Amino acid sequence: MPWVVRDAVRDINRAVARRWQSVDPLLPDPSAMPTGCGAPLVVHGDNGRVAGLGVCVHHHVPADSLNQTWGAADRFLLTPRLTGQDTMAPADSLLSQWRDHLAGVAAARGEDTSAGIVWPSRDITGVRALLRHGLQPLTVIAARTRPEAPAAPARQIPGITIRAAGPRDEERVLGLELRLIQFDGHFGGPVWRRDTADLVRQEVRISLQRQAMWTWLAERHGHAIGLLVAQPPPEAGWIAGMTSRSPAAYLQTMFIQPEDRGTGVGAALVRALHARLDAGGASVTLLHHSQVNPLSGPFWNRMGYRPLWTSWEARPARALR
Ligand SMILES: CC(C)(COP(=O)(O)OP(=O)(O)OC[C@H]1O[C@@H](n2cnc3c(N)ncnc32)[C@H](O)[C@@H]1OP(=O)(O)O)[C@@H](O)C(=O)NCCC(=O)NCCS
Repeated sequence: MPWVVRDAVRDINRAVARRWQSVDPLLPDPSAMPTGCGAPLVVHGDNGRVAGLGVCVHHHVPADSLNQTWGAADRFLLTPRLTGQDTMAPADSLLSQWRDHLAGVAAARGEDTSAGIVWPSRDITGVRALLRHGLQPLTVIAARTRPEAPAAPARQIPGITIRAAGPRDEERVLGLELRLIQFDGHFGGPVWRRDTADLVRQEVRISLQRQAMWTWLAERHGHAIGLLVAQPPPEAGWIAGMTSRSPAAYLQTMFIQPEDRGTGVGAALVRALHARLDAGGASVTLLHHSQVNPLSGPFWNRMGYRPLWTSWEARPARALR
């Protein structure tokens, strides 16, 4: 990278860091810009100076990867760095350039594609630009910080047992995992693939053999009715950079079967997790939930979570306008 560009990136990252901290102290410092599939997109302000940069990265997710269940097979991700207090105009310019860039990329024309951007949830100044370009808010990364005072202990629910799952629980855990993916499919995030069930089974099998992963079942009279899977901080490094707080844990799966919802089982599982994470020194817990799932937002808010990042997507990628 020529030094002029490197200096511009450094100055922009500094300005973006200040802006992000004023918008939301749980945001991290901006990461280094990734290497994109073309030259960085550059936005100029009214005074002619560089007001922002964007890099487009192309990820092809192979069919034999479980990751393909979580979205399109070909994902075009824009990493934006916009300075200034109001990002509406620079975001509009950046998204127009990105749309024109993708129009020239053959792989972005297929059906199984998406154009995505991860945006600080509290940075409301750019939202109209995202909507104007055909992007939809699909998924939220929500965060809960460890409370000052110890959280309320998990309530005992008559007839319900919460226990750690082990290798012999593969069918129980798999059944609840697959029901969650089918449920989440209503909200346009996951895509049920030919190999989804097999790939989830493999992941469940590996995970149940590892003490490092925490998989807990809620049971009524020995019948599994709820599932929580979490990654304590040593397992959650892949997402830890999304927040300024450290160490970060990740809550991966949460599902209560429909007939047992609204009876406190979900809260009991989550409170048991929080008690263990808080006692172990986790500073923040992150999770993904669908923006339009009517059950998840209110529940997670009751459990102490709030939006940190919102993933906006156009599917297929050519729907970006
Ligand atoms: C979200 C889900 C896990 C909640 O589990 P649950 O056992 O029904 O929740 P609980 O009965 O323990 O409710 C805990 C609290 O959240 C509130 N709550 C739960 N769901 C709610 C909803 N949809 N709307 C408003 N409040 C809700 C409850 O009223 C309760 O509040 P209280 O503490 O004041 O009593 C469950 O609905 C579910 O499995 N949904 C399908 C899968 C899903 O959405 N998973 C999360 C995706 S990340």
